[in-house]
Amino acid sequence: MTVGVIGLGYVGLPLAVAFAEAGEDVIAVDLDERKIAAIDAGTSYIEDIASERLQAVLPRIEAWTHFAPLARADAIFICVPTPLTPNREPDLEPLVGAGRALGHVVQRGQLVVLESTTYPGTTRERLLPLLERRGLKVGDGINLAFSPERVDPGRTDFTMRNTPKVVGGVTEECTRRAVEVYSRICDCVVPVSGPEVAEMTKLLENIFRSVNIALVNELSMLSDRMGVDIWEVVDAASTKPYGFMRFEPGPGMGGHCLPVDPFYLTWRAREFHMSTEFIELAGKVNQQMPYYCAERVERALNDARKSVNASRILILGASYKGGVGDIRESPALRIMEVLKGRGAIISYNDPYVPELAEIDLRSVPLDDIAGYDAVVLVTAHPGIDYAAVHAQATTLVDLRGVTRKLGLSEPQPELAGTA
Ligand SMILES: NC(=O)c1ccc[n+]([C@@H]2O[C@H](COP(=O)([O-])OP(=O)(O)OC[C@H]3O[C@@H](n4cnc5c(N)ncnc54)[C@H](O)[C@@H]3O)[C@@H](O)[C@H]2O)c1
Repeated sequence: MTVGVIGLGYVGLPLAVAFAEAGEDVIAVDLDERKIAAIDAGTSYIEDIASERLQAVLPRIEAWTHFAPLARADAIFICVPTPLTPNREPDLEPLVGAGRALGHVVQRGQLVVLESTTYPGTTRERLLPLLERRGLKVGDGINLAFSPERVDPGRTDFTMRNTPKVVGGVTEECTRRAVEVYSRICDCVVPVSGPEVAEMTKLLENIFRSVNIALVNELSMLSDRMGVDIWEVVDAASTKPYGFMRFEPGPGMGGHCLPVDPFYLTWRAREFHMSTEFIELAGKVNQQMPYYCAERVERALNDARKSVNASRILILGASYKGGVGDIRESPALRIMEVLKGRGAIISYNDPYVPELAEIDLRSVPLDDIAGYDAVVLVTAHPGIDYAAVHAQATTLVDLRGVTRKLGLSEPQPELAGTA
């Protein structure tokens, strides 16, 4: 079988490699010439795919910046970005662009699957007409389905192979074809009645996380005022064997998914005269977190009789989560911006993010921890000796509870009773 993958980012490259590892030939397409050159050179730019793994399957992957070779594929997967516009409305430009280009080359007998996260209705209302422009019909000539990507970057226990894959085709035959193709790389495929169910499933999963993260973050702000240790509360609640799911307090939400996807549904809901209160509220609480975290740094400095202004502050971790270099929507960037705006001299360390070109900073080595007025642990990466950081820092603000888990810090005594 020959598989086409459009959009070779965090979702598309692992998918292309998975099919190649399953013995299929892969036609990989991306508009970004640098990605195509990197693939051709066997150099991976995604943490979850080691270059050696890519090199091992390279003979089965051909990479292109144009769509014509996709005419030879049996199944084509679209994995392009689905961002928001500056007004926080769905930006379907990349998806429509890919659909339009694919519409020129799509062939009778092909299966097309959209994997990009989007609002219910996108596959049928926006993608389908672009594929049918040359007289081909979905359900009679070509097959079309939606299947959300559930990849959790940096995770090793749940992979593409053992994470169930939800698939909804426009027709029963579309679903059947998609289930057959995914079964080559996934142990469990879950067919649903149509693309809208599959589209909404992904949004439910993301909104569930967003709402629960917001809930624990709101309780962490309240616990801070009340002098209660939120980590101890979460640990204790997690002993309940049913009816509770653990979510970690933190500096807010980051990445491409949680801060973005739920608002696709908010936008769509307006057409149905509904406002999605949970989504808006969760977004509001989570967006507020970096500002609250900056205030915690301010208080910690105050306890040491220092001001933010002119203090040297080291941010540990610039990416939005541990073990990855993805800085999209990272709360660390907002915390840096706020503290810098108040006059702090900001440095950062992140082994996964060598530079932040937009703010003209490069990751500094961890060799002068004691020289900073405050060290702020925003994102915990594997391989860093946080015990050593704790031992050397004059003031450490741990936004992830890492030092606490190492049994190193008291539960934030400086915060108690400050309401
Ligand atoms: N990153 C994740 O963890 C994750 C998880 C689940 C779902 N998703 C969803 O998957 C989709 C892709 O996300 P990603 O993180 O892989 O994005 P990404 O930005 O890492 O990769 C997308 C790629 O698509 C390419 N591209 C853009 N427009 C194109 C076009 N018209 N034709 C061909 N290529 C084009 C870009 O150059 C880029 O390389 C999004 O909808 C996202 O919400 C992402």
